[in-house]
Amino acid sequence: MARVVVVGSINMDLVTLAPRFAGPGETILGERFLTVHGGKGANQAVAAARLGADVALVGALGDDAFSTQLYEGLAREGVALEHVSRIADCGSGTASITVAEGENHIIVVPAANARVTPTQIERAQATLASADAILVQMEIPLESVEATLRLGQRLGKPVILNPAPAQKLPVEWLKLARYLTPNQHELAILLGAGDDEDFRSLMQRAPAPVVLTRGGDGAWYRDGGEPVHQPGFKVDVVDTTGAGDTFNAALAVFLQEGLPTAVRKACAAAALSVTRLGAQGGMPTRAELDAFL
Ligand code: RIB
Ligand code: NA
Repeated sequence: MARVVVVGSINMDLVTLAPRFAGPGETILGERFLTVHGGKGANQAVAAARLGADVALVGALGDDAFSTQLYEGLAREGVALEHVSRIADCGSGTASITVAEGENHIIVVPAANARVTPTQIERAQATLASADAILVQMEIPLESVEATLRLGQRLGKPVILNPAPAQKLPVEWLKLARYLTPNQHELAILLGAGDDEDFRSLMQRAPAPVVLTRGGDGAWYRDGGEPVHQPGFKVDVVDTTGAGDTFNAALAVFLQEGLPTAVRKACAAAALSVTRLGAQGGMPTRAELDAFL
């Protein structure tokens, strides 16, 4: 069983289904509202746990009602929470999500996630040292992303950096990652390039190996040499929220089987995840993934 440690955010997702997106200053009627558990860190932890990995999460929750629900949800999924701190007089992260026209718009308010510190990551050193793979995203302070990359390097553990939401990062940090897992837009921003540069050329000049997600078109990966394409799996799309998280989790869980296999399984897991509503809704179990493949 792979051991995966995730350093990242925990959010309550406030999801509105609507026939279309509202414009600035406009009010429209939506179809449905639901609160579901999300946050890139929590999503990746849950997806990895469902795929059979032994998972620990390093992150932060507040002390409001959402925080308790989020904590219990993660515990139910079997995620180890010793390094999830509870911050007094603070709310948990939220993501206001509109799903319309087969797409989503998301606004994240970090709240407690902004309180994940480098010190907290250092305190989790023994946990990170026990990992086969470490996952980190960018909904926590960038200094904590850097601390995770540096600690992973020091411990000789592969760190998968999922550079989402997109921001430019120093090249020295990127070099510390075993894999970068952006989509095309995120890779352009990460490298400070224009959005019009071909993704293959962006992959060639990234300072670390890249596994690039392409939605329904699957993924491209490059670990030296030319970029290789893994086609996507055809499914009926209900909600793409959390597809990237499922992809990253599967990549970490199956990394020991070699990159081509890990990417193929990651594409399959991500495809299954979009067939149900909510970030964590469609995340497959190991058995569901095996049956699909
Ligand atoms: O990657 C999907 C996640 O991004 C959602 O669950 C939401 O919380 C946002 O953080
Ligand atoms: Na989903």
